Amino acid sequence: MKKVEISLSLIEADDAKELADSEQVLIKISRQMTTQAYAPYSGFYVGAAVLLENGEIVLGSNQENAAYPSGLCAERVAVFAASAKYPNVKIKAIAISGNSRSRDIGHPVTPCGACRQVMLEYEVKQQEPVKIYLSGHSGKIFVIEKVQDLLPLSFTSKELENL
Ligand code: THU
Repeated sequence: MKKVEISLSLIEADDAKELADSEQVLIKISRQMTTQAYAPYSGFYVGAAVLLENGEIVLGSNQENAAYPSGLCAERVAVFAASAKYPNVKIKAIAISGNSRSRDIGHPVTPCGACRQVMLEYEVKQQEPVKIYLSGHSGKIFVIEKVQDLLPLSFTSKELENL
């Protein structure tokens, strides 16, 4: 028996200005997308911007519903839209930002487990890492090299091969 440690390393930027121009643009767009959220029930606004290999940026925001479980997170709205429109175009990066109805969120918002699982599906499919940028309305930004880092011990399609 032995103890196994799994660690996550990420880049923490104090401000978007520390990042490359193209990264700043993607983060800015995801922040803008929080204003498009349909979140009358939670008051928590999330925006997502998916940068594709072909240069296109596909957008998403969280979409809530009076029947609560019928709603969907911003990340999944954006990633599913990207895959529906461009099924064979790889995802380079996803910026995710959060804000709220009542106050500006000044720390990075981190994706829920279901969204991590969905983003991982496409990373495994394309066999290339998807870079993730997490932010609030302002403040620090977390940069994570690949979705896999956000979901250790994940369940993937590899488990379903040759059954
Ligand atoms: N939400 C997202 O859009 N992304 C996440 O990763 C976490 C949560 C949304 C879902 C719901 O509309 C609201 O935030 C509160 O949970």
